[in-house]
Amino acid sequence: MRITVIGTGYLGVTHAVCMAELGFEVMGLDVVEEKVAALSTGRVPFYEPGLEELLNKQLAAGRLSFTTDYDKLAAWAGEGSVHFVCVGTPQKKGEYAADMTYVDAAFESLARALAGQGRSLLVGKSTVPVGTASRIAGRLAELAPDAELAWNPEFLREGFAVEDTLHPDRLVLGVRSEQAEQDLRQVYAKLLAADVPLIITDFATSELVKVSANSFLAVKISFINAMAEVCEAAGADVMELAQALSHDPRIGRRFLVPGLGFGGGCLPKDIRAFMARAGELGVDQALAFLKEVDAINMRRRVRTVDLAREQCDGSLLGKRVAVWGAAFKPNSDDIRDSPALNVAASIHLQGAQVTVYDPKASDNARKLFPTLSYADSALEAAYQADVILHLTEWQEFRDLDPAEVAPHVRDTRVIDGRNALDAARWRAAGWTYRALGRP
Ligand code: UDX
Repeated sequence: MRITVIGTGYLGVTHAVCMAELGFEVMGLDVVEEKVAALSTGRVPFYEPGLEELLNKQLAAGRLSFTTDYDKLAAWAGEGSVHFVCVGTPQKKGEYAADMTYVDAAFESLARALAGQGRSLLVGKSTVPVGTASRIAGRLAELAPDAELAWNPEFLREGFAVEDTLHPDRLVLGVRSEQAEQDLRQVYAKLLAADVPLIITDFATSELVKVSANSFLAVKISFINAMAEVCEAAGADVMELAQALSHDPRIGRRFLVPGLGFGGGCLPKDIRAFMARAGELGVDQALAFLKEVDAINMRRRVRTVDLAREQCDGSLLGKRVAVWGAAFKPNSDDIRDSPALNVAASIHLQGAQVTVYDPKASDNARKLFPTLSYADSALEAAYQADVILHLTEWQEFRDLDPAEVAPHVRDTRVIDGRNALDAARWRAAGWTYRALGRP
């Protein structure tokens, strides 16, 4: 059984490399030539811990290759092959709904190339509006009647992508035939042997598992951030509140960290696309709460800017602001809908000179926000700053000694947008430490 992976973004590259790691011969495809060229020479065009090492291992083992050519891919794969579609579904411009252009184009090209080549299984991994798989299955029946469809949502977290792919919490398979189930059981045999929970279901349920999982996580983060708003008004401490809540095993500790809130290429656009789809299905009321979840999340960004202004004595005009972090979360260079960059840009708009430092995401950030200044280290960014904003919780920032940072700044004020710095340590070193939801 040969495997192909269509789309070489964060999900696709990880999936291709991990399928090779499981022992399969794998070919990845992307329509962007530069990505294929980079991957073919062992370079991952984004930052994901451990991925480049595994890519090189599998290239050297001869199990992995990349192409831009669908016909070449189909001929190589042959009968009985499995094809994973891992292309993106970004938010449509000016709408909440997901842009399905890339998914539709990928299935269309794949089906045309596979037509007449015997039986094969096409597997959607992209996050899509419920009903997509059924629609695509109809199109496949016209274009390549020997090809079958399955849906297998992906739950990997950036920063832990390899670990999450090789040791997932669960495997969800939306299938319409025994054969499709057997093919996917064969693909994931090693994971199943390691007792990874398996859920076999229909197309619609498999599509919904993904968006409802991400919605639940978004709810959890916005819940604690709503509590942070109340804590600020009441003079309470949301970190102590969260800790106390987390001892109840029904609530738990994870995804209950208050701060600047969620961003990235998944949570924000997924909850919006989910609301849009619910509207089409006539059940928009059922998901109306997600609008509030989204609003709570976006308010955290505004509040952080307000806090920075307060710390700068009421005006950001002409102030120097250091921003630590540009990625939407640590251990990633992904800046899609990054709260850190949103805050940085908004402070810049209010007349401050903003200098950003991120261990991995500065190059991406510079392309999107060329008017911000960028530094090569946290200390360089802090030079003569009136206030430091800690907005992405890289370990590197936690390791800094506040006493060593102090001589570099104009004013020893720090805002911890992620509630991740040691408040007592910074205060003991003479800093004014402020964080969302804490006195
Ligand atoms: C998410 C899901 O976790 C993953 O299962 C899905 O497949 C894709 O979307 P990812 O986007 O990589 O993964 O990031 P995640 O770790 O979920 O974090 C999302 C955002 O929430 C980040 O901006 C993070 O900083 C924020 N977050 C997370 C909080 O603000 N508080 C928390 O307690 C946890």
